[in-house]
Amino acid sequence: MFATVAIVGAGPAGLLLARMLHNAGIDSIVLEHRDRAYVEHRQRAGMLEQGTVDALRACGAAERLDREGLVHHGIELRFDRRSHHLDFPALTGGRSVMIYAQTEIVKDLVALQLAEGGPLLFEAEAIAIEDDTLTFVRDGVKERLGFDFVVGCDGFHGISRAAIPDARVYEREYPYSWLGILADVPPSCEELIYAHSERGFALHSMRSPTVSRLYLQVPNDTDPDDWPDDRIWDELDARFAVDTDWKLMRGPITQKAVTPMRSFVTEPMRHGRLFLAGDAAHIVPPTGAKGLNLAISDVVTLAKALQHWFTTGSPDLLNTYSDTCLRRVWRAEHFSYFMTTLLHRTPDQTPFDTRLQLSQLHRIADSRHAAAELAENYAGLP
Ligand code: APR
Ligand code: PHB
Repeated sequence: MFATVAIVGAGPAGLLLARMLHNAGIDSIVLEHRDRAYVEHRQRAGMLEQGTVDALRACGAAERLDREGLVHHGIELRFDRRSHHLDFPALTGGRSVMIYAQTEIVKDLVALQLAEGGPLLFEAEAIAIEDDTLTFVRDGVKERLGFDFVVGCDGFHGISRAAIPDARVYEREYPYSWLGILADVPPSCEELIYAHSERGFALHSMRSPTVSRLYLQVPNDTDPDDWPDDRIWDELDARFAVDTDWKLMRGPITQKAVTPMRSFVTEPMRHGRLFLAGDAAHIVPPTGAKGLNLAISDVVTLAKALQHWFTTGSPDLLNTYSDTCLRRVWRAEHFSYFMTTLLHRTPDQTPFDTRLQLSQLHRIADSRHAAAELAENYAGLP
């Protein structure tokens, strides 16, 4: 078996890359370890920067997103029992973001790939990457796939990263996790709410006009079964409390899961014919909503570089791929770390730490410059 570009992993990174290459007339094969249902139902984030929306539109994958996506013109920061709205278009020269779940992007891209694109093999696990050949296992049988290029889009737990010799790894773990829920209840606010409180962080987000997505900071290794529905709603109420008549709407909780928080970068993102994209190369804590957007941005950069190589024979863009991506990656790493440490409470937090957090939050609320810095990073740098 041979593909010009072998792609490992059918998350948003691998699927979008296959789509962009297909549109550019470059053939690829996507190998995905899990089955289709698993990949299409994994709950992940859902906040898309303008550049992410543009990329999906440009490759013809935004038909449903344009119908169902919810445009957001800002976020709300909540602290000291008060709310502060950040108006993104006013602070960034016109930029907005969109809420559309990552799982829905994956469903849209899988459908397009199966209808129009090259082979997308589910339940095919890559087990080794060599110079110009990849070994994978399907139905218990080992198979070989030859390639000109191979792209590791296999997420944080994938195998491709290990095929880059002498990689440098930068990493940080946080002493807290997120308990995320989906609830069949209309969002209680038009905007996302990022809440700082003495009891820890909470986030109000949404999936549709009838489905809310909410998160609570919890200790690492929390068992979701220790959090019956009433306990979750009571805790959310306490962390979102404000001195107005705003009320958090409750509804049936349909999903509950705990996710740890991590920052991680591996450098470089290329070795010879092997390229890494998305979570395979970097992880951010979800507070800045950057993970999906970084993955898409890598893929846009890589698809351009590959297309440049195949049309002109010039390796220039392939050679700069890693550096180009890493500049954006580190900006997002810093912003995600900033948002995370600004809003969460550490187990050993002192009153001094809390005062510093509140001082910075007031600064953002009071200064157009401080607010614009946050808004530009959040809505996405060009
Ligand atoms: N062989 C084949 N497929 C593999 C292998 C392997 N050895 N290892 C992992 N995979 C698959 C996983 O099953 C998964 O479907 O690679 C895919 C990686 O997808 P994602 O984890 O969604 O990663 P990515 O496409 O980079 O998307 C990044 O996901 O975690 C979020 O916040 C993150 O939103 C960001 C997005
Ligand atoms: C989500 O909607 O799941 C979401 C939104 C914003 C974040 C993280 C997650 O910062």
